[in-house]
Amino acid sequence: MKHKLILSLAFSALTALSLTAQAGPIDTQLAGYKAAAQAADAKFTAFSAERGKAFHNRAFGGGKPDTPACASCHNENPRAAGLAPTGKVIEPVALSATPGRYADPAKVEKWFKRNCQEVLGRACSPQEKGDWLSYMVSQ
Ligand code: HEC
Repeated sequence: MKHKLILSLAFSALTALSLTAQAGPIDTQLAGYKAAAQAADAKFTAFSAERGKAFHNRAFGGGKPDTPACASCHNENPRAAGLAPTGKVIEPVALSATPGRYADPAKVEKWFKRNCQEVLGRACSPQEKGDWLSYMVSQ
């Protein structure tokens, strides 16, 4: 009896530990976007890496003419390096290729704000951000 209890307590503690370890900054960020997406649209269910891929490559008309898409700077292949019009090389945006990415929520938000304005001429919606981030995490 006593052993069983200790075992199950130890197991719960381990489970709790591994859950805490898994909920890193990217998961927290995605959870925040998800809550916002649900608040904006009651029919919203989940982010889609497929939609994120289409978003990444889509040419929008509302922003700067020389950078119509995220892929204009970040490369259509997110595992490859990108290039800004200034000639600055940008490390790949796929998480597998640049494992340090998306660790700082303030940095992520700063660049979403700046780049969405540049490409779409408006802020990205929480769903657009969550889809795009899901695509990058899946790559
Ligand atoms: C004009 C070039 C340019 C365009 C277009 C562009 N980006 Fe970026 N982006 C950058 C640069 C430069 C950085 C900062 C350098 C870095 O993180 O390697 C960056 C960084 C980011 C980051 C932060 C990455 C991190 O590690 O935290 C996100 C998120 C991001 N971009 C999303 C987007 C999305 C979404 C689009 C399309 C709506 C887009 N970008 C279009 C140039 C661009």
